[in-house]
Amino acid sequence: MLLHPHLDINAEGHLTIGGLDTVALAREFGTPAYIMDENVIRAQFRTYLTAARTHFGENALPAFASKALCFTEIYRIAAEEGLGIDCVSGGELYTAKKAGFPAARIYFHGNNKTDADLTMALDMGVGTVVVDNTDELLALDTIAKAKGKQQRILLRITPGIDPHTHRAIQTGNVDSKFGNAIVTGAAMAITKLALSLDGVCLAGFHCHVGSQIFEIDPFRDAANIMVRYIADVKRETGFEASELNLGGGLGVRYTEHDATVDYAAAIAEIAAIVRTNADACGIAMPRVILEPGRSLVAAAGITLYTVGAVKEIPGFKNYISVDGGMPDNPRYALYQSEYTALIANRADTPADYRATVAGRCCESGDLIGEDMPIGRAKRGDILAVLCTGAYNYSMASNYNRLPRPPVILVRDGKARVAVRRETFEDLVRLDT
Ligand code: LLP
Repeated sequence: MLLHPHLDINAEGHLTIGGLDTVALAREFGTPAYIMDENVIRAQFRTYLTAARTHFGENALPAFASKALCFTEIYRIAAEEGLGIDCVSGGELYTAKKAGFPAARIYFHGNNKTDADLTMALDMGVGTVVVDNTDELLALDTIAKAKGKQQRILLRITPGIDPHTHRAIQTGNVDSKFGNAIVTGAAMAITKLALSLDGVCLAGFHCHVGSQIFEIDPFRDAANIMVRYIADVKRETGFEASELNLGGGLGVRYTEHDATVDYAAAIAEIAAIVRTNADACGIAMPRVILEPGRSLVAAAGITLYTVGAVKEIPGFKNYISVDGGMPDNPRYALYQSEYTALIANRADTPADYRATVAGRCCESGDLIGEDMPIGRAKRGDILAVLCTGAYNYSMASNYNRLPRPPVILVRDGKARVAVRRETFEDLVRLDT
């Protein structure tokens, strides 16, 4: 069971991605390495774009939440495919700019944008700033006015939904560092303030309920609450929002226990809810923005490692140590996220063994997963971890001074380097 259709096993029993032999890729590019199938990324971008336009209307736009995977080439791909992007820092804005991404299609997020961030956004001509709080709103107004500009904004609203996901990645609750809760009155207060300022132009509202969500209910609730909020604002102030950004959050299949999501069907369901509610509340159907991150890129990527040591501790665990670990994939250490791993050079042998896949850091929590079903491994084997396209490279660190792996894009039978491997020299480049 290989989880995703672009992964297969060839006649030699090797795992393939996009038709390319992973053992050959490991030989060519070294390990650890992130390998991503560009066709899968592009296809998923198109799935979202087509479904959004079909079900929400021609002006709907999926904006790729680039915190999930950020490097210059991914912004070029998003630009080519006609998507918008969500950026959350000056660094992401800078990378997008380098890639020539059209600034008008950028949504600039973050709960603590600095004056420098806001200035950069204004100077770049960022299309929409998603304002998180009153301090930011006032700062943006001041900076925009000083530049003789008026910045288009959305306000981040907290609808107060618990999406039953991992606590550390819940962001739609009332008790959140993000946004302005409707129930406390904070949302209405910041909305009225925004409407009174000349340096900003309020287009509508944003919410994001959480991440790795499989049920449609949290999205249904969010759509209900947000549309009603638009109607409340209209009643109270006369302002009718023309744009509603529903955030990201649809889940992906990390293991065979996770469902396969029909993204187009999910978008159709959410669109029907927004439409019905808009009609019922007497407001015009807003332009809808979706902000998927994980579900656009996670499945496309795998990570290849070389096995170094195999240690069996009778009565306890079996350990397989690989030449990467929490610096290239911190998600087990942070969230106990489960992954699927297999021995890429014997991908046709059954996963009849159980092992804890460990990294090479001096830290016992440096694990890719515990007690994972996998084939037996020996030093020199290539171990593949699947579904690592999101929140792996973008969350990578240099802990223990490990250089970050390269990102290799495969497409139509060819592989190319999108991000080269860091060298030891790169590691000391900033040291004085
Ligand atoms: N929009 C906003 C405002 C967000 O905060 C996020 C994710 C997204 C969109 C995209 O959500 P997605 O479609 O990827 O679920 N590092 C964590 C995930 C943190 C997500 C933070 N916000 C992880 O590795 O699971």
